[in-house]
Amino acid sequence: MSAPDRSAAVEPPLALLAELTHRCPLQCPYCSNPRALVGHGAELDTATWSRVLSEAAQLGVLQVHFSGGEPTARRDLVDLVRHAARVGLYSNLITSGVQLDGARLATLAAAGLDHVQLSFQDADDAGGDAIAAYAGAQAKKRAAAALVVAQGLALTANLVVHRRNLARLPAMIEMAAGLGAGRLEVAHVQYYGWALANRAALLPTAAQLVEADAVVAAARERLKGRVVIDYVPPDYHARQPKPCMSGWGRRFINITPSGKALPCHAAETIADLDFPSVTDHALAAIWRSSAAFQRFRGTAWMPEPCRSCDQREVDWGGCRCQALALTGDAARTDPVCALAPDHALIDDALAAPARDALVFRRFEKTTLP
Ligand code: SF4
Ligand code: FES
Repeated sequence: MSAPDRSAAVEPPLALLAELTHRCPLQCPYCSNPRALVGHGAELDTATWSRVLSEAAQLGVLQVHFSGGEPTARRDLVDLVRHAARVGLYSNLITSGVQLDGARLATLAAAGLDHVQLSFQDADDAGGDAIAAYAGAQAKKRAAAALVVAQGLALTANLVVHRRNLARLPAMIEMAAGLGAGRLEVAHVQYYGWALANRAALLPTAAQLVEADAVVAAARERLKGRVVIDYVPPDYHARQPKPCMSGWGRRFINITPSGKALPCHAAETIADLDFPSVTDHALAAIWRSSAAFQRFRGTAWMPEPCRSCDQREVDWGGCRCQALALTGDAARTDPVCALAPDHALIDDALAAPARDALVFRRFEKTTLP
């Protein structure tokens, strides 16, 4: 793991994403988990997660996002929430909501949980249940939202949009606002891992995107002062890539269920980087001086055209995982950029024929032990 320690120049991360488990009752075909899922037996234990939370707070992390998979599948979730509160971390539970009941939520709130982020896959039961491959999911999510609001916890509704449900975006926004969410995140699918395998079935058309932009703008106006709406546009229709993770190793650190520390959720796809584990190393050492976190930090690694571009500290060259997935080389300019030598790959994807069939997220033979 050794590399020169540039710690003096490295700001602490703002947030830690704790992927407690890859277990999940839903099978969304755009799941951000890797294609090779971590099995139950390889998950970190409670003591190790607690140590990681303590180390995160000492390092300067402000927020922990408990995620998965489905984090409520962990029996020790309440212990971890309590520990996060004890060490001063603001805690957010990112959940599908289908396993939440009033008693569990009350226990989590009493343990110090600050915020819940609930995902919705569609406006109606038929659409929501179909894309999650889980009968009754949408009704359970609505019930979970009501429980969160009744418990007095802050609620964000994450509305995932793509070609198949964009026609119902106005209804999705109305539903989420009606459920009492104070914040909506309208997020277009990002094409890594499972979503990349389903890109031809999910990528929106340019006309859909224009319509979605107008729907979000109108909803912001209508719900002003009551609901904040964040909007994550789809990469592929942009001229400039997103500043993925606000730059590699700048603001965020992810911990996988088995303890690998990553600069982003998809980083393990970059096979030539050796990502350190929290079971072997302290979080501060990983963040400040591991070779993997330093590999794409800052701008020194950049090739042309990024190297001499005035946007290099705005978008940080885009997304390393997307560059790898599309070009085979994580160090190339994100092909989404109109200036990238590989931009034709994006044009080709947008011009490719649409597909109907979906690959659903399931534990496969590639599942890790
Ligand atoms: Fe961003 Fe690089 Fe494109 Fe410039 S050339 S806009 S830094 S991705
Ligand atoms: Fe890994 Fe963007 S998802 S850098």
